[in-house]
Amino acid sequence: MSQFDYIKEIAKYGLENNQEELLKVLNDLVTYSKQTKKTNFAIQLQSILKEGIRNKAHSGLSVVGSQKHLLREEDNDVKDFIIEKLTSDYNFDNLVISSDIKTELRYFVSEHQNLEMLQGFDLPVSNKILFHGASGCGKTLASYVMAGELDKIMIVISLGAIVSSKLGETSKNLAKIFRRAASEECVIFLDEFDSLGKMRDTNQDHAEMKRVVNTILQLFDYLPQKSIIIAATNSVEAIDPALMRRFDLKVEFNIPSKDQIKELIQKTLKSGVFTLDKKVSLKKLIELSEGLSFYTIQRTLLTAIKRSLLNQSMTDKPKITIIDSLLWQNLIKVEQENQH
Ligand SMILES: Nc1ncnc2c1ncn2[C@@H]1O[C@H](COP(=O)(O)OP(=O)(O)OP(=O)(O)O)[C@@H](O)[C@H]1O
Ligand SMILES: [Mg+2]
Repeated sequence: MSQFDYIKEIAKYGLENNQEELLKVLNDLVTYSKQTKKTNFAIQLQSILKEGIRNKAHSGLSVVGSQKHLLREEDNDVKDFIIEKLTSDYNFDNLVISSDIKTELRYFVSEHQNLEMLQGFDLPVSNKILFHGASGCGKTLASYVMAGELDKIMIVISLGAIVSSKLGETSKNLAKIFRRAASEECVIFLDEFDSLGKMRDTNQDHAEMKRVVNTILQLFDYLPQKSIIIAATNSVEAIDPALMRRFDLKVEFNIPSKDQIKELIQKTLKSGVFTLDKKVSLKKLIELSEGLSFYTIQRTLLTAIKRSLLNQSMTDKPKITIIDSLLWQNLIKVEQENQH
């Protein structure tokens, strides 16, 4: 449709007093104007529309084409960047982490459980966390744990996809996502947070990146306290210092210590459902695993558990759940060799 076609339709529905169709055409015209880069016109028209709808709602007249229509349109735009929307059953027991960090995370949750009380004293509530550090050491898992503990819906956003979207649209798309999050009081999980810094290295222009960083700063600063941002990255050095400062809590995830490996093993063995045989000592297995990520250690152990079960009688559910430690040791050794 051309601009004239829109005008014709607007005239038609306006004179027919067909509010519903009129609103639809006007909304289509907003979209069309955005596509044809008449951004200013699109914004102006959109605000006229919103204003009109608001006035109608207040005047007590029946509302045709409610505000929902506009919100729904926006939802569709945002959908491309949302990887998942989920609820989480994870809790602190699922995460192996130092007790200091666990305490910090528990306080964060507690702040939100006691939000009204704190706000009653005019105290600011922390709502932005950065998880950084080695791959496979629990950043994503910790985000699920936080969503589970906070009992909030989590929206997983791929910043990579937003940043590589059409030049000049990054800021706009970010603003949409934040608006959406604010309206739902959820946890926004911004994975690959370093993608913003990486724009500098790609052929995207520098001014655009500055604009995006500024947008994020503003969005962070005006984020309602009930909405929570968790950002994750494994290259923290790529993040703009001004952005770094905005986080209330920064947590580094490292490869596990010996004690943490032991705890991970116990959790993976489901606290006694499976037991390792004594062919290789636990101490030796832990030492051999040092330097590997939580993920790799857990994965090799899970493989050893499955293979031990499969090597036993295939009939019924095996009654003996003894795990072949030698088999696991070999899997660990392969991983260690792969690393070097
Ligand atoms: N600290 C941990 N405690 C318990 N399990 C862990 C921990 N870290 C990792 N795992 C296990 O490894 C899996 C992968 O970890 P996760 O996805 O959280 O890593 P990540 O830090 O987000 O890595 P990446 O940087 O590659 O995204 C988890 O689902 C979990 O099973
Ligand atoms: Mg991750």
